[in-house]
Amino acid sequence: MKLLIDDANVQEIERLMKIYPIDGVTTNPTIIARTKKDPKDLLLEIRRIIGKDKLLFVQSVATDAEGIVEDGLAIVECLGENTVVKIPCNTEGLQAIKALSKKGVVCCGTTAYTALQAYLVAHSGAKYVAPYVNRIDNMGFNGVEVVQQMQNILDNHGYDCQIMAASFKNSQQVLELCEYGIGLVTCAPDVIDNFINNPSIDKAVDDFTKNFEAVYGEKTMKDILNS
Ligand code: G3P
Repeated sequence: MKLLIDDANVQEIERLMKIYPIDGVTTNPTIIARTKKDPKDLLLEIRRIIGKDKLLFVQSVATDAEGIVEDGLAIVECLGENTVVKIPCNTEGLQAIKALSKKGVVCCGTTAYTALQAYLVAHSGAKYVAPYVNRIDNMGFNGVEVVQQMQNILDNHGYDCQIMAASFKNSQQVLELCEYGIGLVTCAPDVIDNFINNPSIDKAVDDFTKNFEAVYGEKTMKDILNS
């Protein structure tokens, strides 16, 4: 399962990239606006930080199909290969997904709340669909189960479209989708940190260090093996 950062804070992206096996960054208009930076400078900076081989998801902001197509072409032109155009899957967005996919632009249908949206996005030619797990939970449905239903639909029909699940508020939601075999997840920094934020891990590591140092002193394996 690929792991992406759902944030545009460059310091956070740099920090997380150093620690975790990160496959890319996803943004949306709200995430970009939160930084208050110039969007072009910001996106180019993120592309520079993550490198040209990682995935960068950038959302269109136009609201009509023609405008979304123009946004999508501008996004890939500016940010290069491995850039995916996120497009809301409403009636205008589906038209744009069909048009851009025909031109070879890699699209992700976003704002997916229902399994049939995933079917439409895949059938329109998008390579990714982004369901909003926690927002579905907040509507009184089970976000994880909706995503699993989407995965079954994509698998049963053999669509070349992967689920990039988004909008997580806790690691349990991620765990259940990881176990199910979902292709990608994108998470806010605090959700990613919580994958390994566990006092038992810290205690086990401290105990190993203390026990070793009590007998051999403050030495690393390199100190010992190279002596
Ligand atoms: O990028 C879309 C998605 O990640 C939204 O997440 O946290 O605003 O529900 P959230």
